[in-house]
Amino acid sequence: MSNSLYSTFTIGDLQLSNRMVMAPMTRNRAAKGAVPTDLNATYYRQRARAGLIITEASQVSAEGVGYPATPGIYSDEQVAGWRKVTDAVHAEEGHIFIQLWYCGRISHPSLLPDGQTPVAPSAIRPEGESVTLEGMQPFVEPRALLTSEIPGIVAQYRHAAEKAKQAGFDGIEVHAANGYLIDPQSKPA
Ligand SMILES: Cc1cc2nc3c(=O)[nH]c(=O)nc-3n(C[C@H](O)[C@H](O)[C@H](O)COP(=O)(O)O)c2cc1C
Repeated sequence: MSNSLYSTFTIGDLQLSNRMVMAPMTRNRAAKGAVPTDLNATYYRQRARAGLIITEASQVSAEGVGYPATPGIYSDEQVAGWRKVTDAVHAEEGHIFIQLWYCGRISHPSLLPDGQTPVAPSAIRPEGESVTLEGMQPFVEPRALLTSEIPGIVAQYRHAAEKAKQAGFDGIEVHAANGYLIDPQSKPA
């Protein structure tokens, strides 16, 4: 059957070898500097026979982090680490998109540069707890972004997308859920 799970599928200019897409899953395995390692390359190579892999979410800047040991896609070291991943997947004739996130109010000062307060559209603390290196800690009240700061955030996404191209990704997915900075469904706690 032409539309069976094992038939090819065209997405943009990509021809996927089947219709299985691996969902993004945070693995918390990045090294110092939020750099992907050989372990990440092995993990994705082992799964490259899916038609398409969406990677674990990766922060667009140091300020976008929200969990320990998640990878970034903003520095040259990270690009070099991700290049090992994309080369491994392409060697198996797979395709791979990177998922971009900016965690916003789901983050915690202990994870952020200089212990800064997470940012959000409004200064509304979510219900629940952040995952930190010291264990679960209550969410803090975020700082409301100024309108004048938004172009800088957009520029971070653009920069990350450029780095993703340099790293050899076939595309990007923007994470826009779960209370992160871009979440159209986000409701005040
Ligand atoms: C350990 C774990 C990590 C996840 N990390 C991400 C992530 O980085 N980005 C994302 O969009 N979803 C993430 N998810 C959500 C999954 O991609 C998936 O949408 C979710 O498990 C629901 O799929 P299911 O209905 O097939 O279980 C994660 C889920 C799990 C269990």
